[in-house]
Amino acid sequence: MIVGVPKEIKTAENRVALVPAGVEALVADGHTVLVEQGAGVGSGFADDTYRAAGATLAPAAAELWPRADMILKVKEPIEVEWPRMRRGQVIFTYFHFAASEPLTRAVVESGAIAIAYETVQLATGELPLLTPMSEVAGRMAVQEGAKYLEKVAGGSGILLGGVPGVLPAEVAVIGGGVVGTHAAKMAAGLGAHVTLLDVSLDRLRYLSDVLPANVDVVYSNRHNILDALRRADLVIGAVLLPGAKAPKLVTRADLKLMKPGSVVVDVAVDQGGCIETIKPTTHENPTYVVDGIVHYAVANMPGGVPRTSTLALTNATFPYAKRLARHGWKAACRADPALFLGLNVIEGQVVYPGVAEAFSLPLADPKQLV
Ligand SMILES: NC(=O)c1ccc[n+]([C@@H]2O[C@H](COP(=O)([O-])OP(=O)(O)OC[C@H]3O[C@@H](n4cnc5c(N)ncnc54)[C@H](O)[C@@H]3O)[C@@H](O)[C@H]2O)c1
Repeated sequence: MIVGVPKEIKTAENRVALVPAGVEALVADGHTVLVEQGAGVGSGFADDTYRAAGATLAPAAAELWPRADMILKVKEPIEVEWPRMRRGQVIFTYFHFAASEPLTRAVVESGAIAIAYETVQLATGELPLLTPMSEVAGRMAVQEGAKYLEKVAGGSGILLGGVPGVLPAEVAVIGGGVVGTHAAKMAAGLGAHVTLLDVSLDRLRYLSDVLPANVDVVYSNRHNILDALRRADLVIGAVLLPGAKAPKLVTRADLKLMKPGSVVVDVAVDQGGCIETIKPTTHENPTYVVDGIVHYAVANMPGGVPRTSTLALTNATFPYAKRLARHGWKAACRADPALFLGLNVIEGQVVYPGVAEAFSLPLADPKQLV
């Protein structure tokens, strides 16, 4: 088939959906891969590298979309891309349909087959195409926290790891899922003392087994959160209640318990945040101060490190993309229940319950259409 990889045009998006290694594998499988000129530049992959891997470079998106049987993207198609989608074309990308009725209607009207990264789900409940971005955000939370603890950045002037003779910083991580675990590992690796809080005892047992000795795992309740806040130089918010807004676990009044110049990094900001005073920020202007506490709340943290994020994302998406190309979307989805759950819209019909519910649209049974 012809696989198309357009350049991402959403503001500040530098990731790309296929790296040259992926091109090479698809070409070896007998496919034609069209890559828009400049698509990989933001992630450090030059056009020549794609060409050398066997891709055909398309000078413009308008030439690539009509030819491609399958489009591989990172972000949802934005408005200028809507007229380019067409009946029977497979689009494999993050859609987050429930966040946009106009996007949902445009995809329904286009007749394309929308397979959403964010709803591909394993039998364990894991969302394998969201996990890599949580890994990036969790690790990056510590890097950003360390940066904003520096005096010139408005912080209290504390080095996370301390030095011999000087105590390390205290880091509190609220939520011990993917983001929280990666944040705790990074902070511990830098020598900080970490308190990691979660409500799942099974999760706490597992984390206490695998994390180093400078991480204490603690049950997350109001008393223990306040205790951690009093000591913390850096607080990382990493909770998730699936399908719901994040619970507000730190109130504005609680900030008074913290030392001036301490930093909060609320990674859960994309679900509303778990700190009452949090509001989304951007990479261009990532922080603001409330009651002497520096707040960092970038809603798309992985966008700040597109090279790493592209590689992490494509490591996870490529095996699915390869099967979609090799077997066609119907056979690939029939053969893999995880990929089947990625189906959101099929040729004009919404097939994912959450999307139909969000906009009161009729729900079709994907089993009848695949
Ligand atoms: N800002 C960004 O760029 C970015 C990037 C990736 C992920 N995220 C967000 O980060 C958040 C965490 O994602 P994840 O992949 O780690 O989710 P996850 O499901 O792996 O982990 C969430 C954890 O929160 C715990 N939890 C629930 N209620 C709690 C409470 N009251 N106290 C303490 N812990 C509690 C759960 O037990 C679970 O272990 C999500 O909102 C996700 O959307 C943001």
